[in-house]
Amino acid sequence: MYDVKKIREDFPILSREVYGRPLVYLDNAATTQKPLCVLDAMRQEYLNVNANVHRGVHYLSQQATDLHEAAREKVRAFINARSTTEVVFTRGTTESINLVAQTFCESQMQEGDEVVVTDMEHHSNIVPWQLQAKKRGIVLKHIPITDDGCLCSDSVAAYLTERTKLLSITHISNVLGTINPIKELVKMAHDRGIPVLVDGAQSAPHIKIDVQDLDCDFFALSGHKMYGPTGIGVLYGKEAWLEKLPPYQGGGEMIDQVSWERTTFERPPLKFEAGTPDYVATHGLATAIDYLQTIGLEAIEAHEKELTLYALEQIQTIPEMRIFGSLTTHRDAVISFLVGNIHHLDMGTLLDRLGIAVRTGHHCAHPLMQRLGVTGTVRASFALYNTKEEVDTLVAGIRRVSQMF
Ligand SMILES: Cc1ncc(COP(=O)(O)O)c(C=O)c1O
Repeated sequence: MYDVKKIREDFPILSREVYGRPLVYLDNAATTQKPLCVLDAMRQEYLNVNANVHRGVHYLSQQATDLHEAAREKVRAFINARSTTEVVFTRGTTESINLVAQTFCESQMQEGDEVVVTDMEHHSNIVPWQLQAKKRGIVLKHIPITDDGCLCSDSVAAYLTERTKLLSITHISNVLGTINPIKELVKMAHDRGIPVLVDGAQSAPHIKIDVQDLDCDFFALSGHKMYGPTGIGVLYGKEAWLEKLPPYQGGGEMIDQVSWERTTFERPPLKFEAGTPDYVATHGLATAIDYLQTIGLEAIEAHEKELTLYALEQIQTIPEMRIFGSLTTHRDAVISFLVGNIHHLDMGTLLDRLGIAVRTGHHCAHPLMQRLGVTGTVRASFALYNTKEEVDTLVAGIRRVSQMF
């Protein structure tokens, strides 16, 4: 039995009030709240273990290193990577994509080669490629989406040419909730000899990830979107790719030998982890993964699916409601909408006054907003701790705001 009431007790922030009203937190696609076990684990590490990792012979350093490397193993198992050498710790999805953009373009691409993304990408899967395109004369192409916010495989196929060196694509859209058929797209790309990077920022918290089954070459995720701390993320890369790519940043930890004449580097993943890592955050992330697994990814997915379907059903009863993204295919726990001519910022601000936290604006997806023909939307996004009562509060809130205009 999925006991959402009990789950909510793990998140004290959810019982606070804003403006004298119970908080209804529906901005989970931006960041999730943290359960007590994650906060406790990090506090305990600072209180009892804290020491720099990998370098010390002393007890605390070894204990901190053990926790840090145990976290790597936890992530490996969570995404089903073959080996911990395929798990690179970064600051988040953004840094993971920048790491690949910089090192892949530097070592694998020539002027005129193409990177292909889609019209539904977050800026963090657009701008790193644009920076490289400007620097190296690489061409960035974007696959169009259908009016209901999906990809059609014919257009994907049309965009994969002999100049394409990488397909970089979001698993789940942070605006539309569209779940892209990654396995199918990877096969299509691999049949043409093209590797694939998957932006998993929005999928890792919601669905079971199996990088071997997806067969993607790179997978990026953010800890803070999956109940872990901020400032920690992961880049999964197939071993052969990580061996091939040059270092991303230089410094301590990532070297083998340094002399004035020549420096040699560590093997992956350390090759990509210059400087002191956030070893407390990695332990926090591992604890968040434990938490997710204790509840169960399948149970979480089922709960969020039920909640999203219920929300879609209820929200559609509001006059002049316009929902972005497909209403017929299975979508993730994100609903972007506009009501009549009410500006998204007005709707978001007034909902906030009712205690309801939603996101408004462009959601770091300007090109997608242009494709949708809007300047922004209101976005409600659900997590494992949200309830039907909160959906009812949201719907009543939208109705109330709509009547004010
Ligand atoms: C689809 C997608 N990709 C990438 C990111 C960037 O994640 P971060 O800011 O944690 O690096 C986000 C964040 O909202 C996202 O939704």
